Amino acid sequence: MAVNLIPTLLISVYVVLTRARLAEGRSFNVSVPENAPVGTEVVGVRQWLGMQKAELPCVKTEGDPYGRFLLTKECTLVVANPLDWSVQSEYTIKIRVGRVQEVINVWIQVTDVSGYPPVYNETCETPISPAGKDTGEVLFSFDFNVEAKTDTGDVLAVRRTLNKFYETRNMRKFPNTRFSYTESSNCRLQTIFVVRSLNDLVAADQLWSGQFRNLPCRADSRDSELSIHLYSYTMMGDLIRNYVIERYFGTLNFIYLITLTFPAKSTVRLVCQFPPLGKPVRIGTPPNPTRLAHVQSLNIDVHPQGCPVGKYGLLCDKNCTCQNGARCHGFNGACKCQHGWQGVACDIPKPDVAATKTPSDSRAIYMFTNVTIHCRVYHIDVETLSLRFPNTSEVMSEGVNQLDIKVFNAQLHDEGPYTCQARDNDGKVFNKTIVLNINCPPNGKGELCDEVCDCLHSASCDRWAGCVCPPGWTGTRCQTQCPEGTYGKDCTKTRGCQHGASCSPIDGRCNCTVGWYGSNCGGACPKSRYGWRCRQVCSCKNNATCHHVDGSCACVPPWGGRNCDKFHVTQTTSLIEILVPLASILLVVPW
Ligand SMILES: *[C@@H]1O[C@H](CO)[C@@H](O)[C@H](O)[C@H]1NC(C)=O
Ligand SMILES: *[C@@H]1O[C@H](CO)[C@@H](O)[C@H](O)[C@H]1NC(C)=O
Ligand SMILES: *[C@@H]1O[C@H](CO)[C@@H](O)[C@H](O)[C@H]1NC(C)=O
Ligand SMILES: *[C@@H]1O[C@H](CO)[C@@H](O)[C@H](O)[C@H]1NC(C)=O
Ligand SMILES: *[C@@H]1O[C@H](CO)[C@@H](O)[C@H](O)[C@H]1NC(C)=O
Ligand SMILES: *[C@@H]1O[C@H](CO)[C@@H](O)[C@H](O)[C@H]1NC(C)=O
Ligand SMILES: *[C@@H]1O[C@H](CO)[C@@H](O)[C@H](O)[C@H]1NC(C)=O
Ligand SMILES: *[C@@H]1O[C@H](CO)[C@@H](O)[C@H](O)[C@H]1NC(C)=O
Repeated sequence: MAVNLIPTLLISVYVVLTRARLAEGRSFNVSVPENAPVGTEVVGVRQWLGMQKAELPCVKTEGDPYGRFLLTKECTLVVANPLDWSVQSEYTIKIRVGRVQEVINVWIQVTDVSGYPPVYNETCETPISPAGKDTGEVLFSFDFNVEAKTDTGDVLAVRRTLNKFYETRNMRKFPNTRFSYTESSNCRLQTIFVVRSLNDLVAADQLWSGQFRNLPCRADSRDSELSIHLYSYTMMGDLIRNYVIERYFGTLNFIYLITLTFPAKSTVRLVCQFPPLGKPVRIGTPPNPTRLAHVQSLNIDVHPQGCPVGKYGLLCDKNCTCQNGARCHGFNGACKCQHGWQGVACDIPKPDVAATKTPSDSRAIYMFTNVTIHCRVYHIDVETLSLRFPNTSEVMSEGVNQLDIKVFNAQLHDEGPYTCQARDNDGKVFNKTIVLNINCPPNGKGELCDEVCDCLHSASCDRWAGCVCPPGWTGTRCQTQCPEGTYGKDCTKTRGCQHGASCSPIDGRCNCTVGWYGSNCGGACPKSRYGWRCRQVCSCKNNATCHHVDGSCACVPPWGGRNCDKFHVTQTTSLIEILVPLASILLVVPW
């Protein structure tokens, strides 16, 4: 499947110009895809007319009010600002050419490109990082939690956070390691990591020969996931070779294809299914290389930390194009326009009326507070602006761009739709509606706000739902912990912690009992370890097996004692049996 995805990684914006010449009336029909980058040549008027330089200049006179196109000195029409088929799909631009002042019509058909413009997906809206530019920020921080067994029988418990790009060892030491990635409108990022440095090649080679091909990681909720595929050059197949490697990266041995689907706004824990390793894999660098024999558990907490203002992408290395205060999506750079703007970069005025309220957070609006309803118009020559209340009475003003109406001491009967309506000089009507919901005063609930919540554990009180419990708690007042084996919000998640481990009702983490480890506590401590989280080192000697719980030694005869380091004479062994061999030795020793 991943192989089929590869061609989609090629972020290629191409331009198709189909030119048709209409002899009579000097008109040109041109077709431009809406994703044509700024600077794309649309038509060279001079060449088309077969004109000499002397016959210039030429001037764009009408048909392009928002400056999407630009006429160069050479009389070439180029894309000057991002196009958007859904906003305007055709332009008829008049150009006055040469001394004779001939007027030419250029009819531009903007064509729809599927998947463009990128969609601002609210599901995975990313925060804006307060960090300055170029400090190595990445869109997500990744918190790795690994528990693994080495080939010498030790348990490694490693926790590592990756939250800056330049902090990774490989990038610092080997800047020729390459990334290439693409993104989609459905909260998905795909990255190709090209293995170039010697250490990474060795690691990839070890993983490959240890039968590692794919690492799938999933959230409990199953909607977020991460997968890491390892491909070797010989196994990549023609698609990847042809499209990616030879064209973009030259020859190479291994690539990782990393796919992250993250339809969420806050931290998500992913649990990875590490495949059994065919043979131990060397990790770490000399002088302390370690060989992993088995990875018991690998969890990754993915936390959206956001890019600095004006940047987007997994590595925050792409420039946003959003204008006029629009917010830029961290995944794909899609713009969320402010009121009154439209277009892929929010740089085209949009005649509009907006209805908003203060406080803007609905939770802060409850009985006896003051609420203000704002009506505001953008890019309209207003004749009248009005606000209609839920009881259908109306206030109206003439010639103003804004109307702020205060609802004092809000009551339940103030609930309902408030409609702002603007009428422009041509009689055209624009309207927007906002619905006001009034919450009960703190700790109140019910239709008439006459019941109390009295929630515990800092749960919030909702007028209709009552207590909204934090993760780990349930009950009408959130007084009860989630039942054993369940956890999370509303105790809806279940977790199988094994071997008597307890499960945290809040986040489902297993607290293993003594002698077990791994995220489900499914692994008994390796042979030389015992105790809580396998922290204790066994002291058993002479091939004795060590109990994974309490470290007690099961000796191999003839050894005995607590640590099996005493030569042990069992009851069934008579003194004679020991003395006879001893005697025979003594006999052959020449005195
Ligand atoms: C150019 O486009 C106009 C407007 O759609 C159309 O009427 C005309 O036939 C087209 N001419 C050619 C040559 O395609
Ligand atoms: C946003 O992403 C979610 C999750 O991937 C997807 O289901 C949804 O269709 C996307 N919305 C849009 C508008 O693309
Ligand atoms: C982003 O913008 C900066 C500064 O404006 C510029 O130096 C850089 O080349 C741009 N990067 C890309 C990928 O366009
Ligand atoms: C609402 O506004 C009135 C008049 O300005 C003021 O006296 C009152 O304290 C305000 N109420 C709240 C809850 O802020
Ligand atoms: C309708 O509601 C508004 C705002 O609450 C109030 O000023 C007005 O008097 C009400 N009109 C009627 C007819 O009740
Ligand atoms: C808002 O405008 C639409 C048409 O533009 C109209 O159908 C609708 O009735 C209007 N709504 C209100 C509440 O005026
Ligand atoms: C885990 O369990 C041990 C005892 O079995 C207990 O002492 C410890 O507090 C627990 N830790 C957490 C985080 O619940
Ligand atoms: C431990 O067992 C291994 C294999 O069973 C054997 O080769 C080795 O000699 C034993 N060592 C001791 C100290 O008994």
